[in-house]
Amino acid sequence: MGSELKYFAVLAITVAALLQSTAAVEKHVVGDKFGWIVPPGGHYAYEVWASGHKFSVGDILEFNFTTGEQDVAKVTKEAFDSCNSTNPIELKTTGPANFTLDTIGEYYFIGTMDKHCELGQKLAINVTSTTSAPAPAPGPATPRGPVTYIVGEQLGWFVPGEFSYSAWAYGKTFMVGDTLVFNFLNETQDVAIVTKAVFDNCTTNSTLAVYKYSPVHIILNTTGEHYFTSTYDSHCEYGQKLAINVTGKSAGTPSPCPSPSSSTTPAPSKAPSAHSPVASGPYTSAASSTITGSGYYLTILLVGLAFFH
Ligand SMILES: *[C@@H]1O[C@H](CO)[C@@H](O)[C@H](O)[C@H]1NC(C)=O
Ligand SMILES: *[C@@H]1O[C@H](CO)[C@@H](O)[C@H](O)[C@H]1NC(C)=O
Ligand SMILES: *[C@@H]1O[C@H](CO)[C@@H](O)[C@H](O)[C@H]1NC(C)=O
Ligand SMILES: *[C@@H]1O[C@H](CO)[C@@H](O)[C@H](O)[C@H]1NC(C)=O
Ligand SMILES: *[C@@H]1O[C@H](CO)[C@@H](O)[C@H](O)[C@H]1NC(C)=O
Ligand SMILES: *[C@@H]1O[C@H](CO)[C@@H](O)[C@H](O)[C@H]1NC(C)=O
Ligand SMILES: *[C@@H]1O[C@H](CO)[C@@H](O)[C@H](O)[C@H]1NC(C)=O
Ligand SMILES: *[C@@H]1O[C@H](CO)[C@@H](O)[C@H](O)[C@H]1NC(C)=O
Ligand SMILES: *[C@@H]1O[C@H](CO)[C@@H](O)[C@H](O)[C@H]1NC(C)=O
Repeated sequence: MGSELKYFAVLAITVAALLQSTAAVEKHVVGDKFGWIVPPGGHYAYEVWASGHKFSVGDILEFNFTTGEQDVAKVTKEAFDSCNSTNPIELKTTGPANFTLDTIGEYYFIGTMDKHCELGQKLAINVTSTTSAPAPAPGPATPRGPVTYIVGEQLGWFVPGEFSYSAWAYGKTFMVGDTLVFNFLNETQDVAIVTKAVFDNCTTNSTLAVYKYSPVHIILNTTGEHYFTSTYDSHCEYGQKLAINVTGKSAGTPSPCPSPSSSTTPAPSKAPSAHSPVASGPYTSAASSTITGSGYYLTILLVGLAFFH
């Protein structure tokens, strides 16, 4: 884990907050403080970033990167989809690099170095209006409907260095009906659902369930505490762990039987599970599977998402 990555990781907390704000006549710094890098969580990073911004004619996109380590090319949709950097519309190799959004329409950008694009350094945006106007502030919705949380936002799910998933979770309200999405690069991470004891001690050879293919969607079906980590060697010890407390129900959620709180009772170490113990061996997973454990259900949907189509 490079120190540079740690640096970005620390700043990601700020990034998450900044995502919500949009102002008039703008320079958009791509990825905000996170900048233009090969994102640890794959191409979701810039997808998520773009979804938090409104682009208007006249706006400037600033790609902040270290010259020599990254570059940025404006390309066609076809080149974007296939990560073809052979004949870009425009290539900028000195960071930071600006592009002015001078017309309505779709814009596609990729990093052309090595496998940067394939690894997720790609951005598609849609300029939809000629007039810059402040985006309407999202009105307070009470009671709120189900929320989908992208774990770690742009950074996704990885061994975080100084970034902490507890900081990410801080201040968020998790309710029954909400969804957690874990984005990561296949074969480099996984998502393990574990008991509190396993979570605390990182004895990740004992799990309730393990999901190996990104993106992992977990619908929070029950109140109480939920613990997530990784079965990869030392990932838990190095901080790839997330604990959340599901406290109520979002509006319009069918009512499941609330499970007894696990906050004071030791979690059962022999919870029934279709998938435990799981070490690091090959793991076959269906496209959709439901497991039962400790009086609650978690349904994990492994969804193949097609972006930019
Ligand atoms: C660009 O990145 C550098 C180094 O990470 C940082 O110091 C600078 O503030 C960034 N610029 C912007 C506009 O975010
Ligand atoms: C990449 O694009 C160039 C020019 O746009 C084209 O000639 C070439 O066939 C493309 N390569 C692939 C692998 O699609
Ligand atoms: C990019 O645009 C910003 C905002 O207008 C400006 O401050 C910065 O100097 C520009 N950078 C380059 C390399 O043109
Ligand atoms: C971009 O916005 C236009 C107008 O709203 C819309 O017709 C088009 O489908 C959008 N493109 C993408 C890729 O979302
Ligand atoms: C976790 O570690 C503590 C302290 O080392 C120990 O007392 C406890 O039994 C361990 N729990 C499990 C489930 O291994
Ligand atoms: C997990 O590993 C610990 C020590 O590394 C061992 O004591 C324990 O029995 C193992 N548990 C399982 C379920 O294999
Ligand atoms: C991970 O693997 C699954 C199943 O093979 C696939 O659907 C998904 O697109 C892959 N995700 C990434 C980010 O490569
Ligand atoms: C989780 O929330 C419940 C209900 O608000 C509370 O009683 C419990 O102490 C919380 N647990 C933690 C670890 O914060
Ligand atoms: C959990 O959510 C899934 C998906 O929405 C649903 O199929 C399942 O019945 C739910 N389980 C409970 C106990 O509510």
